[in-house]
Amino acid sequence: MKHCNKKGKRKAKLIGLAACVAATVTLSGCSLYDIADLFSGLGKGSEALYANENQQMPTEVAEAQTGSMDNNITDEAEQKEITEIAILPGASWLDTDGNVIQAHGGQIQLMPVPDENGVKTEKYVWVGEDKSSGHLGNDVAVYTSDDLYHWEFQGDVFRAVESREQLDEDSYFQELYQDHTSDELDEIYNCINKNTVIERPKLLYNHKNDNYVLWFHSDDSTEKNTYKYDVGMAGVAVSDSPAGPFKFLGRYRLSQCPDEQIDCFPSSKGEARDMNLFQDEDGTAYVTYTSENNKTLYISKLNEDYTYLSTDPEKAVYKEDFIRIFPGAMREAPVLFKGDNGRYYLMSSSTTGWMSNQARVWSADEIFGDWQNDGNPCVGTDADITFDTQSTCVFQTKEGQWIYYGDRWNSTDLADSRYIWLPLNFDGNRVVIKWESDFVLK
Ligand code: DGJ
Repeated sequence: MKHCNKKGKRKAKLIGLAACVAATVTLSGCSLYDIADLFSGLGKGSEALYANENQQMPTEVAEAQTGSMDNNITDEAEQKEITEIAILPGASWLDTDGNVIQAHGGQIQLMPVPDENGVKTEKYVWVGEDKSSGHLGNDVAVYTSDDLYHWEFQGDVFRAVESREQLDEDSYFQELYQDHTSDELDEIYNCINKNTVIERPKLLYNHKNDNYVLWFHSDDSTEKNTYKYDVGMAGVAVSDSPAGPFKFLGRYRLSQCPDEQIDCFPSSKGEARDMNLFQDEDGTAYVTYTSENNKTLYISKLNEDYTYLSTDPEKAVYKEDFIRIFPGAMREAPVLFKGDNGRYYLMSSSTTGWMSNQARVWSADEIFGDWQNDGNPCVGTDADITFDTQSTCVFQTKEGQWIYYGDRWNSTDLADSRYIWLPLNFDGNRVVIKWESDFVLK
């Protein structure tokens, strides 16, 4: 993703306001706390917020004061006095313990969450990559919230394996894999060790089995290619709770281009890289992913357990079990959702590594129907680079508000990549996303 100075730009401008309110917001980097509390110094976690962000201040204050950065904050936002709890896209977001939230390439949704007695209540669950170890071998983190502002860390719920011995000796892994043979443990180590790619984790609650199913992009180099994205598979793990621990079931290649269609990458069938999940109102779930060397997006139906495809790739029927969307369009970071109008939307990015690029939305009346190109949903300054983000999730709040959530990747310090949430609206049947420097959830 393009990591220009947006983060700096935003902070610079807020400091430029010279208002206590804005300066406090900037200093703390807070986006998810009650700003009013922070003014009085009573805000939960405020000391930690200050401690965390103060280190960055000298440079950014200096940059702001010399005016060396331009900005993309609207006049309206500049004038706005932030006096209530607010979402600040691109700020450093902290959890309720005061630690930076590590949930990149993630997904937010309402789902039943069991307490210690197994009693379930609906909560927002945020799953994502814990990138504190950098690019490879990311653990998967989960946070929960009642209001989308305050996020409680539930732990690294799916852990990458540090060594083959750890599977035999560490009680965490022993308990998960006690019924596995040594060969099976070798394979688990091969798939999810700290030198592999574990990206874009997504969760589903399976009502039939009352369990939680995690899918992620599982990748690695091969004997033929040192490129870390050559395995091109989808990993699957399950747990009784979104708080984990998740047990790895396996990783798979997925649907294949039918013989009568033109495969954009015939030498490597069934690849699955960037991915996402979608659960329809009738409980049918789908995985959407980039395939054919990132040239073609697919949507494939899942089985009733959500742990694999509904039909093996060799037997799958086109437009009954899977569909290819605009072959050769070179899209990734897919997000599939269904609007209040009952129409399906598939948002995606182009394929430029960690650099941001232009988003596109396709829409259709049926998942396996005819998809139409609705173009770029973003409007205004930086619409051509999706406001310096890459799509990862679109979710709806309890109150019915639609939110776009993208990653603003920092390729030189992936753990410091930022989260951008923006209100997503519908103009007729078209999706529209506009930049908001801060906003309050409805
Ligand atoms: C873009 C993908 O969307 C990310 O998840 C990640 O795989 C980067 N490419 C790696 O360059």
